Amino acid sequence: MQPLAPNQQLLPLTACVNERGHLVIGGCDVVELVAQWGSPLYIVDEVTLRTACRYYREGFKRFYPGPSQPIYAAKAWCCLGILAMVVSEGLGLDVVSGGELTTAIRLGVPPERVYLHGNNKSQAELTLALDYGCRIVVDNWHELKTLAQLAQERGRRVPILIRLTPGIECHTHEYIRTGHLDSKFGFDPSQWPALVDWLLGQSYLECIGLHAHIGSQIFALDPHRDLTEVLVDYYAQGLQAGLPLQAVNVGGGLGIRYVETDQPPAIADWVRVVSEGVTQHCQARGVPLPLLISEPGRSIVGPAGVTAYTLGGRKEIPGGRTYISVDGGMSDNPRPITYQARYQALVANRCLDPIAETVTVAGKHCESGDILIRDISMPLTQPGDVLVVLATGAYNASMASNYNRMPRPAAVVVRDGDAELLVRRETWEDLLRHDCLPLRLELAESCDGGRGWGD
Ligand code: LLP
Repeated sequence: MQPLAPNQQLLPLTACVNERGHLVIGGCDVVELVAQWGSPLYIVDEVTLRTACRYYREGFKRFYPGPSQPIYAAKAWCCLGILAMVVSEGLGLDVVSGGELTTAIRLGVPPERVYLHGNNKSQAELTLALDYGCRIVVDNWHELKTLAQLAQERGRRVPILIRLTPGIECHTHEYIRTGHLDSKFGFDPSQWPALVDWLLGQSYLECIGLHAHIGSQIFALDPHRDLTEVLVDYYAQGLQAGLPLQAVNVGGGLGIRYVETDQPPAIADWVRVVSEGVTQHCQARGVPLPLLISEPGRSIVGPAGVTAYTLGGRKEIPGGRTYISVDGGMSDNPRPITYQARYQALVANRCLDPIAETVTVAGKHCESGDILIRDISMPLTQPGDVLVVLATGAYNASMASNYNRMPRPAAVVVRDGDAELLVRRETWEDLLRHDCLPLRLELAESCDGGRGWGD
């Protein structure tokens, strides 16, 4: 039996239970982490994150006979520390905004390893990307023409990739499906011949590659196998027409395990399928193997992260559900309310206690839908216990909000018994940082005009 890949595990790879019955991650007792850093607390296991990066890098070296470059989709979680870890593992970056790009620039990532995506990049974002010298994945005609103009003004030939909508359906939540034809992303395939003609006439744009992404949290391998054929077809046609194509980017999308019943394929299997697909289709068409780029996000950072909360109130409805509330919720993890996402949790200070009841884990936001986990089996808990929700490393911190004026959590990275801050906790004062109060709206000393409240 092959060992399970990080994306097939519910718990981070270093998770264990200590003699006090507490959950330990990266050699750190999670209960102590919460005592030190407060809650909610995002915890990232460095070993799990780095292992996932290596599975991608080594998988491509093993299964793909040509050059390869996995790049981390920073939208899954973008902060300096996370990017530093993935880049030090040899991955490049997929960034989708001026903010993500600025994070990569601040870190000093070599520009040739960074790819800027987005279906509506602003002039400022394109300018930043051009000055930095990263690769730009062009989404539509408007962007193509803007970029041609900017490149000409600089008198420089700019390398670009073209994003195509491959017309591939896959089974995932409709909000995170992107490869079907009715999608806002990328050029429609019917435009390909016109696009090739136009690109051949450009002196300042150099089309070096093609890109497609079919969706996220995908468990089936077939859609990605099919995608390689579609992409290699366009690649071969483009080469034949005279485009200087060198790269094919198959996007990301491999799913991870959030609950026991999830059965995602291993990273290595996904890598093998896309590698074999690109290789076979290139051989069949007699074209050289391109640089094979892939863009995993969730499967790199998702399984490495957990969120620790402190339990508060409990509500037992006679003949109905029992709710236990945590000190966070939809502001630090909007996935359940947005995509009906399911999660698994355990009680960090009661790992050895027997399962005793079924409860529903509620967030603290003023919204009935703010439920993190419905009907989960748990030991008996008390206020003050530490509840840990698993596999929250992807699309939690990066989608966190300040709804209800909740400060966003701190994040720590753990390794060999050390915990260090990745992101400082926001304070109530931080939340006021961008508020402006026009002078004329300032309240007079006595804002009720001296009449007393309620008159
Ligand atoms: N490349 C492109 C162009 C993408 O749009 C995405 C994700 C990725 C790569 C990375 O896909 P991954 O390997 O992470 O599946 N907020 C949603 C997920 C949105 C995904 C958006 N695009 C969620 O929480 O499930």
